[in-house]
Amino acid sequence: MVGPKTQLLPLLLLLLFLSALSFFSYHHSSLLISVSNPNPNPKPSLNLTLHPQIPNFTFIIKVLAYNRLDSLSRCLRSLAAADYLSDPVHLHLHIDHFPLSDAADADRKLQESRRILDLVDGFEWKFGDKVVHYRTRNAGLQAQWLEAWWPSSDHEFAFVVEDDLEVSPLYYKFLKNLIVNYYYNASNSRPYIYGASLQRPRFVPGKHGNKLQLDDGTRLFLYQLVGTWGQLLFPKPWKEFRLWYDKHKAKGIKPILNGMVTTGWYKKMGEKIWTPWFIKFIHTRGYFNIYTNFLHERALSASHRDAGVNYGKTAGPDSHILDESSLDLKFWDMQPLSDLKWYDFCFREIFPERVVVSLDELGSTLDSVQKHNTVIVVSLFGAKEMVIRNLLCHLETLNLLNYVLIGPESELLFDLARRGHPVITTNRFLESVGAHKLISMKHSHVHTINEILVKVYVLQKCLQSGYSSWVVDGNMLPVSSDAFVESDHSYDIYIGKTSELFFASGLSSTRKVWDDDFISKFAMMVNSFLVKRQSISFGYVMAEILEQKKGVRVKNLDETSFGVRIDNSRVNQSLGDGKQVAFWSHDMASDLVQQRLQELGVWTVDDDFSCKAVICHQS
Ligand SMILES: *[C@@H]1O[C@H](CO)[C@@H](O)[C@H](O)[C@H]1NC(C)=O
Ligand SMILES: *[C@@H]1O[C@H](CO)[C@@H](O)[C@H](O)[C@H]1NC(C)=O
Ligand SMILES: *[C@@H]1O[C@H](CO)[C@@H](O)[C@H](O)[C@H]1NC(C)=O
Ligand SMILES: *[C@@H]1O[C@H](CO)[C@@H](O)[C@H](O)[C@H]1NC(C)=O
Repeated sequence: MVGPKTQLLPLLLLLLFLSALSFFSYHHSSLLISVSNPNPNPKPSLNLTLHPQIPNFTFIIKVLAYNRLDSLSRCLRSLAAADYLSDPVHLHLHIDHFPLSDAADADRKLQESRRILDLVDGFEWKFGDKVVHYRTRNAGLQAQWLEAWWPSSDHEFAFVVEDDLEVSPLYYKFLKNLIVNYYYNASNSRPYIYGASLQRPRFVPGKHGNKLQLDDGTRLFLYQLVGTWGQLLFPKPWKEFRLWYDKHKAKGIKPILNGMVTTGWYKKMGEKIWTPWFIKFIHTRGYFNIYTNFLHERALSASHRDAGVNYGKTAGPDSHILDESSLDLKFWDMQPLSDLKWYDFCFREIFPERVVVSLDELGSTLDSVQKHNTVIVVSLFGAKEMVIRNLLCHLETLNLLNYVLIGPESELLFDLARRGHPVITTNRFLESVGAHKLISMKHSHVHTINEILVKVYVLQKCLQSGYSSWVVDGNMLPVSSDAFVESDHSYDIYIGKTSELFFASGLSSTRKVWDDDFISKFAMMVNSFLVKRQSISFGYVMAEILEQKKGVRVKNLDETSFGVRIDNSRVNQSLGDGKQVAFWSHDMASDLVQQRLQELGVWTVDDDFSCKAVICHQS
């Protein structure tokens, strides 16, 4: 039995060699743009062939039609005129039925439906399968969209077009290029991108949001809003949405998101439309859509805004359709995701995935978040997820954006980072600055020690950068935008009496006590407490050290003078009137915290732990 074994080895080597080769060619030839021709109107040749390991790539066009014959005819003509490379592309037509309530008009409506069916029957689709789904009753736009698709694999994509749409002949090549680059390139894709909209972006749904303005160099960007005029949907997020919708619908939970124009639509139109559901889902998950910015009112799809559910009378095309004649080389350019800008429902730019793991990154992050030279350092150690999410909603509402979050590495922390909150991952950060060497004792309070150490490093960096800093824990909730404003300049440092509240002014008098070996002295103090088995906290260690320093003005702060302490019994105070924070003890149960904060009217998350409202601030 020697023979088969010896033959196996060369075969294995060959397989390894082949897979290395195919990996190589995948990364080097899946997108080829010939740029050798320098003439001003170059015809780039794209290689949009997917890697052989993705055999099941499927693209389905979902046309949602009703009774607009001319619109549908124009739509189908434009779809058939597009370049589909040599890919099979399927066409699914979903034709809604007229409502059966009005028998008087039935003959005319039956005739109208016949003409629509004759049109689709006679329409030749040579790129793949044509499937017609003719309904027996009126479904409306919501069901038309939601029932149009259940992806049969993670390689199936749907492009949804309503019948008054017209697409560019280039639209498919563009979308395929986008799928190759932002879905199938693992280093350049994100599970929180749900698709791409080809319509020209114009609408900002957050009330009092920023104007939708982009610079001329921006070709692609990310934006939370769904587009209904030519939307490509990625399979996984769409499935998630359908399950989320089912759950909320079944439990009678409405897609109310305060502060959004679309919630007004929902209140008026109810279940006739689907977008308020999708928007609420996207807000909860923090997902994004890819958009184009082709300038001069151009886009790859245009809505003719024909009279129907959305328009009482025909409003005409919203954009100019882009064709070959208006192309330049940059058209096919799919920049790395990290170079693109991201915008929320207020059209505020956000910066996903700011995860600080080193001192240098810390410096630039502090520079980018500081406001009036002040930074709020929020420690999430020991705080429960719903309490943290509630806190972040408040910071957003109060427009307090000059914070960094510190916490143990966790899925939650990374989720917060990808939603745009700057985070410092404690362990990796402390490793990178070599902090573990400073603590000599073996100890059981790893989290406590790490928390104290990361606070002192961040504080030092703030002061070195000339910033005043607040250090607070997740068990303190600001309810006024003045909560973290230094009000009394006669002190350099405040230390909270009962909470972990700490403030250091960025003035030079504070920095003076912060000499080069401050951190090593701080660590020695921590070590000595550990030896004596004393319980320690950041504020306690700081207070001990500062006691030995001369010339620094320290004040012990009584939190109840500006805040409301909550505990197990019902709150008999109210916030406001100079009460700018609510605070509680670390060991209070989180459902009780929630109950108390609800009583105070400062619980702002829903059952999905998502902010109940979008509050835009002009920026
Ligand atoms: C994948 O995306 C990265 C950018 O994140 C890029 O550098 C790389 O060339 C892309 N790979 C392919 C095969 O296009
Ligand atoms: C295009 O890319 C595919 C897959 O990477 C490869 O198999 C094919 O040979 C390429 N075609 C050209 C013309 O480069
Ligand atoms: C592709 O589809 C075939 C048949 O539907 C299935 O057997 C196969 O597992 C699929 N391959 C992948 C990579 O999904
Ligand atoms: C609120 O309750 C505390 C005890 O829980 C009590 O000491 C205090 O007097 C009460 N304040 C008011 C305004 O009733």
